[in-house]
Amino acid sequence: MPIQLFESETHASTYAQARPSPPQSLIGSILSFLESGFPPDTNGLWPQAVDVGAGSGQTTFLMKDHFKHILGIDISAAQIGEANKRNIYPNVSFKVSPAETIPLENESVSLVTASQCLHWFDLEKFYTELNRILVPGGVFATFGYLPVPIISTDDSSSKNKLAQLVEKCRLELSDLWEQPGTDFLNSKYTGLKLPFNDNHKINTIKCSVPYSGQKYFDYITSWSAYNELMEKNPEKAKKFTDNIVNQLKVILETDDVFSAQFHHEFEFFLLMSRKPEN
Ligand SMILES: C[S@@+](CC[C@H](N)C(=O)[O-])C[C@H]1O[C@@H](n2cnc3c(N)ncnc32)[C@H](O)[C@@H]1O
Repeated sequence: MPIQLFESETHASTYAQARPSPPQSLIGSILSFLESGFPPDTNGLWPQAVDVGAGSGQTTFLMKDHFKHILGIDISAAQIGEANKRNIYPNVSFKVSPAETIPLENESVSLVTASQCLHWFDLEKFYTELNRILVPGGVFATFGYLPVPIISTDDSSSKNKLAQLVEKCRLELSDLWEQPGTDFLNSKYTGLKLPFNDNHKINTIKCSVPYSGQKYFDYITSWSAYNELMEKNPEKAKKFTDNIVNQLKVILETDDVFSAQFHHEFEFFLLMSRKPEN
C-alpha cells in the first residue's frame, strides 16, 4: 500500500509555492550522463521522459527543452491539480498514477527522474517498472535536497539564526516524520541499491535561490510532518506557526516578516543508473 501524504489541496498549493526546483547544473549532469550512452536526435531532443512523484512539476518543467514529450505522474490528485495549473507547455503533460505502475509502453522512455520521493515508493515494484519502460541505454536519476537548508543572507548572523530555526522546527516535529523514509532521505540515500550496474553519484550540489519570509514560512508548513500535526492537533499547529512568525520578527528585525528578502541555500544530491544496452 503506497504512503499518501500530499493529498490535501491546501498542502499541494503551499508545496507549489515554496519548494525549490533543482538547479540547472543538476539537470545538466543528468543530461550529460544520458548523452554519454544515448545521444539525442539531430535537434538535440530525446523522445520521452517521465518524472515520477512529480509533485507540482518542480523537475518536470525543467526538462521541457530537452525531450519531445515529458510526462509527470504523481499518486496525489491535489499535486497533479497544481501541476496542471502551472502547465503552459504543449510537450508536458501530467497524470495521476503511482510510480509502481507507469502508464507507458515497454522500452519507450529515455529518462526517468524521481526527485525527493524515491523513499516513499515500493522499490521492488518501481524498479521492475523502470526496467520495463526504459529503453536500453536509458537512465534513471533520483535526487533530493536536505530538509535543513543552509540559509544565506547578507547578514551572517541572521543566516545562522534562520538555519537554526528550521532545524528547531524539524526537531519539534520529530515524532511526525514518516519513517524510515525520512531518515533515508536525510542520509542522501546511503546504501541505496540502484537498479542497474552503471552508476554515478554526485553527493553535493549547492544552489542559492532568492527567498522571502513568506516562502520560508511556506517551506516549513509544506512539510508532511507539519501537515500531520495540523490534522492531529490544530491548536498545537497554530502555536507552532505563531512561534515561527514571532521568531522571524526577532531574527529579521521587522514586523513585516513575510516581505523580508534573503537568499536561501539548498544542498542537493544526485544518483544515476543506466540500463544496459543488451
Ligand atoms: C516531497 S514530494 C516531491 C515532489 C517533487 N518531485 C519535488 O521534487 O518537489 C513527494 C511526492 O511523491 C508523491 N508520491 C509518494 N508516493 C508515491 C508513489 N508511490 N507514486 C507516485 N507518487 C508518489 C507524493 O504525492 C508527493 O507529491
